[in-house]
This record gives sequence, C-alpha cells and structure tokens, in this order.
Amino acid sequence: MPDTPASPEPASTVLVITAHPQMEQSRINRRMMRSASTLAASAAGPVVVRDLYSLYPDYLIDVAAEQALLADASLVVWQHPIHWYSMPPLMKLWVDDVLSFGWAYGPGGTALRGKDLWLVATTGGPEDSYHPESYNRYFFDAFLPPYEQTAALCGMRFLPPLLLHGAHRADDTQIEAHTSLFADRLSTYPRWPELDELLYGLTRHVPEDARPEEPITEPVLKENA
Ligand SMILES: Cc1cc2nc3c(=O)[nH]c(=O)nc-3n(C[C@H](O)[C@H](O)[C@H](O)COP(=O)(O)O)c2cc1C
Repeated sequence: MPDTPASPEPASTVLVITAHPQMEQSRINRRMMRSASTLAASAAGPVVVRDLYSLYPDYLIDVAAEQALLADASLVVWQHPIHWYSMPPLMKLWVDDVLSFGWAYGPGGTALRGKDLWLVATTGGPEDSYHPESYNRYFFDAFLPPYEQTAALCGMRFLPPLLLHGAHRADDTQIEAHTSLFADRLSTYPRWPELDELLYGLTRHVPEDARPEEPITEPVLKENA
C-alpha cells in the first residue's frame, strides 16, 4: 500500500512591526519594509506588515487590532532605525499599549508565550563606533537588554538580531544584500540555520504576578544602623 503523503505543515505567520518617523526619507528601512510588503502581497508566506507611523499618525494605537495580529503570529519582527540607542517613540508606545498587563505578562498574561521576537535594526554609527574606545563607548550588545528582557518577561524567545551598522555609508550593493537576507529570512522562517544553533531559550521562569511597575517597598541600600 502506498504511503499517505504527509500533509504540509501550516506556514508560520510572520508579523513585521515597522516604525520610522521619517519613512519617506529612509534609504534602508523603507526598502526593507517594501520587500516585506511584497512578500505579504505575493502570499509567498503568511507575512503581515504594520507600518506604525502610517497607521497611527495620531499616535492612537488600536490595541485590540494589534493584539489580534500578534496572537496569530509565530514570529514577531521589530524593524526600525536605532534612535538614541533605542526604538523610535511610536514603537515604544506600541510596546507600552499593546503588551499589556494580564495579556502579555502578569496573571493570565500568556498571549505571547512561545513566540519568537526578532529585532531588525539599523544604526547610523558604524560597527567600530560601538566600542569602549570609540564615541559610542559600548559594544552594541550593551543596548539590547531592554529588548531581550521584554521578550523574556512575555515568555518569548529573543532571536539573534539582524543589524546594519553605518547606515549612512552603506552603498546600494550592501543595502540590496541586506534587504535580500531580510526577505529570505521572512519567507523561510522557521527554517533558519541559526535557529538550530541557538543555545538559549526559555530558561527563566517568570512568575505570574511579576509586575515591573509595582513600587519597591524595601530600600535597596540601608543606612548603617
Ligand atoms: C533622532 C535620531 C536619533 C538617532 N540615534 C542614533 C543612535 O543612537 N545611534 C546610531 O547609531 N544612530 C542613530 N541615528 C541614526 C539612525 O539610526 C540612521 O539614520 C538610520 O538607521 C538610517 O536608516 P534609514 O536609511 O532607514 O533612515 C539617529 C537618527 C535620528 C534621526
């Protein structure tokens, strides 16, 4: 008797949250967003793109809509230029509003548990400026803990970021190669070579009642009696 052909695995949904306050002036993030949007339109993979500054010019985020898209996603991508060693303000507001207590963390806050978070960012500073002896003073990794810990608190796995440093000096060939790599990863998730090698995962248990905003009742340093 012939083997029954295995039914294809359902493709994982990829949600790209992109934020650039001047997307029309962008050389790199705009190209990357367009490339993700082309994938979304071609149905090559179930990719959904949310361009926050065009969706929410008034900064009034539709939390229910964003949460519904997140609930369907396996991979959540945060794609943005680095601004002041962090994310642009509307991206931060999206995090504040959408990753809410009781939904993303805290009691019953399990909506994002088991999903992957992938930071895709560009910097103006070249890679060698992110060094203790250069003007950015720290290796770029030093700016990642808030992202990593946000993922951990929500029970997500933080994937190795895709970074393009020295954005202003990147030429067309570099931008094209970077954009192609980005599109390739979006369309082949979760079959990425680097995922097999990931040594870290969901190793920390986050208590259900963890509330970062709760006031600290004990002083951290006590004066000598
Ligand atoms: C308000 C603002 C803050 C920025 N802060 C940083 C920064 O902290 N570190 C850095 O390397 N580049 C910084 N840049 C440069 C941007 O990261 C760079 O312009 C961007 O990555 C280029 O991508 P694009 O072509 O998509 O605009 C900043 C730019 C602006 C406008």
